[in-house]
Amino acid sequence: MSASYLHIDHVTMNFPTPSGEFCALKNVNFVINKGEYISIIGHSGCGKSTVLNIIAGLLDASQGGIFLENKQISGPGPERAVVFQHHSLMPWLSVYENVAIAVRQVFKRKKTKAEMHEWIIHNLELVHMDHAMDKLPSEISGGMKQRVGIARALAMEPKVLLMDEPFGALDALTRSHMQESLMDIQEKLNNTIVMITHDVDEAVLLSDKIIMMSNGPSANIGEVVEIDLPRPRNRVRLASNPTYNEYRQRVLSFLYERQSNPLSAPEKEESEDLVETVAETIKETPEATNVTELKSISDSGKAA
Ligand SMILES: Nc1ncnc2c1ncn2[C@@H]1O[C@H](COP(=O)(O)OP(=O)(O)O)[C@@H](O)[C@H]1O
Ligand SMILES: [Mg+2]
Repeated sequence: MSASYLHIDHVTMNFPTPSGEFCALKNVNFVINKGEYISIIGHSGCGKSTVLNIIAGLLDASQGGIFLENKQISGPGPERAVVFQHHSLMPWLSVYENVAIAVRQVFKRKKTKAEMHEWIIHNLELVHMDHAMDKLPSEISGGMKQRVGIARALAMEPKVLLMDEPFGALDALTRSHMQESLMDIQEKLNNTIVMITHDVDEAVLLSDKIIMMSNGPSANIGEVVEIDLPRPRNRVRLASNPTYNEYRQRVLSFLYERQSNPLSAPEKEESEDLVETVAETIKETPEATNVTELKSISDSGKAA
């Protein structure tokens, strides 16, 4: 038995498909300590969400298992809260009610009504959303919805917070605000966090450890980088920090030199063809200003 907090213990995942079994993960093994912020990074389709969904208990591993404080977990549970890329708020409930529904479920026997109310407000304050607690999800921005999703997850007081590309759908500026907020929250609460990302800067800025995955099928852990940078971290100051840049370089070279982007051959050919036609069209039609325009000109040329 290991003394680690969370152990992803030699997990293999085979999916049944019409053309036979597809081995997405093969023997994935790593440990996470309490209070650690872990990022899992890898190219699209390598199996990051599969790992996270197995930890969340939404998928059952074909072999191996997940141990939390040395107990094997099975199925989902409130001690492992999940935040997805696209918010999963109930559209007919207010911001307050979206958090309340989780709080009531977890604390119905442990907190009084007044305590639950206080706890809901406290978690909304933590993500700076208390001012909008009576609004519906349709009345707030994408970044605000993700904040509510994070508040809801934190309000469950999970042992592990699991996040699958939580800021992937946000614009760059909102994303950087969310990263700052998450660093502040992490400093206050010292949560154990597993976050999936494909953003190298996000991974280095936020993490204590980056787990880099090889491409599938049969994906595995390629390399683990420990990020030994003092906290609180400041993105502007880090930009000129040589250690920060070394970490960044290490992740980049793993992703782009050792694991090239896994576009399949036909897709690659198709994209090379597109580059060629666009290049030709640029020569022929200097008035077009963007790729979509060029593509539609070249397509209409082909059709004619
Ligand atoms: N339910 C499923 N059935 C069959 N194949 C799946 C299923 N879920 C995921 N896969 C495959 O497993 C691989 C990993 O998927 P995923 O974990 O979603 O990747 P990532 O999150 O890194 O983009 C992909 O090739 C994907 O097509
Ligand atoms: Mg994914």
